[in-house]
Amino acid sequence: MKKIKIALDGPSSSGKSTLARALARELSIIYVDTGALYRAVGLYMVRHGIEPKDAEAVTAALGGVKVELAYADGVQTVLLNGEDVGGLIRTPAISMAASAVSAIPAVRAFLLGLQKDMVERGGVIMDGRDIGTVIMPDADAKLFLVASAEARAKRRWLEMTAKGVDCSYEQILSETVARDEADSSRDIAPLKPAEDAILFDNSALNIEETVAEALRLIREKGAHE
Ligand code: DC
Repeated sequence: MKKIKIALDGPSSSGKSTLARALARELSIIYVDTGALYRAVGLYMVRHGIEPKDAEAVTAALGGVKVELAYADGVQTVLLNGEDVGGLIRTPAISMAASAVSAIPAVRAFLLGLQKDMVERGGVIMDGRDIGTVIMPDADAKLFLVASAEARAKRRWLEMTAKGVDCSYEQILSETVARDEADSSRDIAPLKPAEDAILFDNSALNIEETVAEALRLIREKGAHE
């Protein structure tokens, strides 16, 4: 069987990881969550009292970092110097640290080999901002989610409200717009579709419809029979 490679990208809160997980299940391939790698590096810096925005200090500290990925039943485990840190990297503080270290070229170079190794194995779907351009330029299908800021803010607001978090839709919308602007204009790995990516607007679709449409687009591309 052909070992397909699928690249998925899009702005924050576009539902990338949910879609990637569902597609991996449907296509019996592995979902490589590359954001977890940047989060593990961010966690290391925070733990060692290194300011994640300090490119020089972060670069110097990379010598002490070993990040590995392991898979069991399609579920990814991220190891930081041998420790499973999956339960520690989803906090707001580590999200900020991950975002900061991901803008440092030495960190991107440091995580490149590991990601390329995963691509070599094939049978993968990977998400992240440079997946379709740097990590997997030869992907069989590249999808770029483009839900409107309003649709994404509404999803995020519903998600937070369901969790009992008191928040306003207007505030989430303005944060979403600000993050889009920062993500698209940054110099290092800006949020930008690969030239051969299929733009996929899922603003009006729920998750089941999004998965069905993504599978149709992948099949149309001839990436999977
Ligand atoms: O997808 P996520 O929120 O777990 O990603 C964590 C951070 O890493 C986020 O700021 C985006 C960044 N990132 C990146 O720059 N390149 C990737 N391939 C994946 C994530």
